[in-house]
Amino acid sequence: MQNVQENSHSGSTRISRRGLMTSAAAAAAILAGKSVIFAAQAKRKLKIALIGCGGRGNGALGNCMEATKHINGLELELVATADWFKQKAESTGGKYQLDASKCFGGGNAYKKLLDTNVDVVLMATSPNFRPVHFEAAIKAGKHVFMEKPVAVDPPGARKIIEAGKLAKKNGLGVVAGTQRRHQANYRRIQYAVENGAIGKIVGGCVWWCGGALWYKTKDPNESDADYMVRNWVSFTEMSGDHIVEQHVHNLDVANWHIGHPPDNALGFGGRARRKTGNQFDFHSVDFDYGDGVRIHSMCRQVNGCDGGVREFFRGTEGQTMGEGGLKGRSIKPPSFTDRNAYVQEHVDLLESILKNEPLNEARNVAESTLTAIMGRISTYTGKLVRWKDLTENTSSPWYNMALTPTAADFESPGVVAPPDDIVAIPGRD
Ligand SMILES: NC(=O)c1ccc[n+]([C@@H]2O[C@H](COP(=O)([O-])OP(=O)(O)OC[C@H]3O[C@@H](n4cnc5c(N)ncnc54)[C@H](O)[C@@H]3O)[C@@H](O)[C@H]2O)c1
Repeated sequence: MQNVQENSHSGSTRISRRGLMTSAAAAAAILAGKSVIFAAQAKRKLKIALIGCGGRGNGALGNCMEATKHINGLELELVATADWFKQKAESTGGKYQLDASKCFGGGNAYKKLLDTNVDVVLMATSPNFRPVHFEAAIKAGKHVFMEKPVAVDPPGARKIIEAGKLAKKNGLGVVAGTQRRHQANYRRIQYAVENGAIGKIVGGCVWWCGGALWYKTKDPNESDADYMVRNWVSFTEMSGDHIVEQHVHNLDVANWHIGHPPDNALGFGGRARRKTGNQFDFHSVDFDYGDGVRIHSMCRQVNGCDGGVREFFRGTEGQTMGEGGLKGRSIKPPSFTDRNAYVQEHVDLLESILKNEPLNEARNVAESTLTAIMGRISTYTGKLVRWKDLTENTSSPWYNMALTPTAADFESPGVVAPPDDIVAIPGRD
């Protein structure tokens, strides 16, 4: 029995649904006249690989391995790792007895990883690289788990949407690290909202207000590229600014509950205490979802202030407080598995691949990322920014606004870092 199918794009092998049944198990099933349920219990194996072996990448890899405990008979094998710094790729690979020859380093490491026979690629670099890595993975016929956010500028977000369409056409699974969509208490609220428990959402507020993150200073002996990769949470070109990098989670909940992204954004922000890079310390944005629906978004990374990471929505017949509960009509939700959402997102992806009903979250996460980018463009410029300026109005100054250095620039020497502490001045840019 044919166990693998050739992928026409890359020549790599992909396990087909039929291939997930071992030959022996399949033959036994056929002889016994049993259904595919038997096959579903057979031993199944998928090859996985990780691009971006930092904190979250190692976490996601562990979560993905843990997911196999909840999927009958599934085995995962780590076949490659890639990181900007080769020793990080080797350190992660070493934890899974992966040979150092399969641990790739540098700006082109992802290409070597995609040349292996991997089935599912996990991506957890800084977000500026996601559009290029994701498009390449989909073109190579790989299923993808990708951390949020998935872009730092409008062309990047649109690239994710286009590659997501190709994934759908080619039957590839895509799940994003906007894990609230896999978290049982959020899914129950979403179910209730969708089924009218609070009536029509008319307004709300979403927050990610916390303390200062870590930062790194430049070593005089290191290249600008190494510095930017190490200090990525300080540079808008790498992270999108924290409105994109962190607050995307809460904006994603708003888009999910309301059912579509906003029409426009007008906001302000500023920088008060950062030392490196060029990000703001706080943003406050009015997102207009049309039809009189407005969501106030606020995010801050400043110590010593009151904080909170949550969402609130007011409906015509009730209200929700993020995962914290709902006041409104009682609607009994279906049963959602209460499990660590960082594990559940992998369970959902892997099960969807095994069932040959691949999930595809590319558009959702790209739109939530672009929502945050729209907010940032407004806080940096002081202008009202419309969704269509980023998605269809090609004469808009922001439609083709690609932040530099771009991901492609990092694949060759000569990256020049933007100067530290030179920031956007609203009203001028
Ligand atoms: N879903 C969540 O709750 C959650 C939590 C934390 C982080 N994240 C996201 O995960 C991503 C990574 O965050 P982190 O905290 O792990 O950062 P990190 O700095 O710990 O790790 C990033 C890793 O990517 C590597 N890298 C950078 N550019 C690369 C390239 N071009 N090719 C290969 N490797 C490259 C770096 O060397 C580093 O090892 C970010 O997008 C972040 O927003 C999500």
